[in-house]
Amino acid sequence: PLTTTGALITGAAAADSAVAAFNVITLEHVEAIVAGAESVAAPVVLQVSENAVKFHDGDLLPLARAASAAAERTAVPVALHLDHVRSEDLLRRAADAGFSSVMYDASRLPYLDNLAATHAAVEWAHGQGLWIEAELGQVGGKNGAPPLDAHAPGARTDPEEARAFVADSGVDALAVAIGSSHAMTTRTAALDHVLLKRLSAALDVPLVLHGSSGVPDDELRAAVAGGIAKVNIGTALNIALTGAVREHLAARPDVVDPRTYLAAGRTAMAETVARLIGVLRTEGTP
Ligand code: G3H
Ligand code: ZN
Repeated sequence: PLTTTGALITGAAAADSAVAAFNVITLEHVEAIVAGAESVAAPVVLQVSENAVKFHDGDLLPLARAASAAAERTAVPVALHLDHVRSEDLLRRAADAGFSSVMYDASRLPYLDNLAATHAAVEWAHGQGLWIEAELGQVGGKNGAPPLDAHAPGARTDPEEARAFVADSGVDALAVAIGSSHAMTTRTAALDHVLLKRLSAALDVPLVLHGSSGVPDDELRAAVAGGIAKVNIGTALNIALTGAVREHLAARPDVVDPRTYLAAGRTAMAETVARLIGVLRTEGTP
């Protein structure tokens, strides 16, 4: 059934576990993520990014409706999250489209501008009953940008600044920059676990890891143990999808029916979803 991101995160955090949030680009992503979660009987977040909305001609509803319908049909709890929103206009379409949560991303702005924009987004979101995540520090690799130098000043989240940011903005969760980067196709990111521990001690809101596709299994487990409550995964599914489609088409160059190779891609994504949820689960996970 359809549930809320807030409920899933609260449940995961209480079990010292994390909820997996997978990025949706196509209908097959929706189907695969739900099938993968069903196969391990786990809750999951379906998240749609502003970039994915742009891909669908700026229309949020096709993916939102597909995700809502899949959530209502399945036995596992599924929440809908709007991811990396920069546009005010898109933000304001979230509630009507069935999303229970949004990530408002003003992390590219200087601190005070990020705070002011995030505070305004929080006021609106809470008025709509939406749970809202924001970002402080910079997780690199967005929109095709190269991975940031994670040691560059300002790239990582500073615990004292984060404490003030959370208190002054009123956000429900914070995406932290601790060494992961978006769109990595190798799993080679090394996380700063000392920093994560300091962030976790300084903040009383759930922490979110972005760019998790590039983070190896043992590092993901350590991040969950260190206080990460939501793990965002996108690229790993696209690697699975594209790899399976490429393999299928290479083996059968005469194929024209997209259902044959999309089915192979969907299966590969579902397997990746199940595997990664398994990595994030701890004993006692609901
Ligand atoms: O918000 C989405 C995630 O941070 C996905 O990052 O594609 O590198 O796994 P990823
Ligand atoms: Zn992200």
